[in-house]
Amino acid sequence: MKSRVIILGPPGAGKGTCASRVSDIAGIPHISTGDLLREAVRERAPLGIRAKGHMDAGELVPDELVVGMLRERLARPDCQKGFILDGFPRTLAQAKALGGIAAVDLAINMVVPADIIVKRLSTRLVCSKCGAVYNTRTLPPKKAGICDKCGGKLYQREDDRPEAVRRRLEEYKKKTKPLIGYYREKRILVNIKTKSIGEPPEANVRRVLAAMGIKG
Ligand code: AP5
Repeated sequence: MKSRVIILGPPGAGKGTCASRVSDIAGIPHISTGDLLREAVRERAPLGIRAKGHMDAGELVPDELVVGMLRERLARPDCQKGFILDGFPRTLAQAKALGGIAAVDLAINMVVPADIIVKRLSTRLVCSKCGAVYNTRTLPPKKAGICDKCGGKLYQREDDRPEAVRRRLEEYKKKTKPLIGYYREKRILVNIKTKSIGEPPEANVRRVLAAMGIKG
């Protein structure tokens, strides 16, 4: 089984939605650098204070901050069996730093048409307590505004405003997209394509599990 996995893809591609489901089935931790940073912002930790302005504007947080945070997270015992990294690496410098921290067996590239992305992000809601992700249009909670899993209050992310979304897409094209070629050259890249707007997340979950060598 390939259990050291990274998930690449533009903002709103469904990386978090897919990774959290794969993590439950495969029994390996889902590590989202976006979630870790948002937690640091909520706790007003020094890292969160330095990261907040970049995040709200839709810019990447400086490499040294994110790499240090990830290095600490991967050193925890639950990562010994493997991990699913969602949103890291995002620059060539981060990819090279990751190579010095842990081996990667599989790089999933989530390919989603741009019009689907913009529609999804404008209607995304996130749980303020557990971070579960919903969508008022495509994946609504059972009770409006309340998380199905923990009863927490749902909110809209600051960086899902149209201006910040545009900036995040630019940052992705300039700094993260080149990683597709980087991992293709290492021969561990698998493209996973969302075929239509109505396709449920489980379709991509099955594709990722198959690439990992797990029967879904
Ligand atoms: P991060 O939180 O990683 O944001 P992102 O990469 O822009 O990705 P998103 O969380 O927006 O989207 P996603 O692909 O996970 O999609 P989701 O599953 O939610 O990062 C935020 C910020 O933190 C960055 O801008 C940066 O500032 C900073 N940061 C983080 N990591 C960093 C790093 N390594 N270096 C530097 N800075 C970093 O799905 C989107 C929506 O679609 C949801 O509403 C969902 O319900 C819905 N949906 C998903 N799949 C489906 C489906 N199949 N059918 C219907 N609806 C679906």
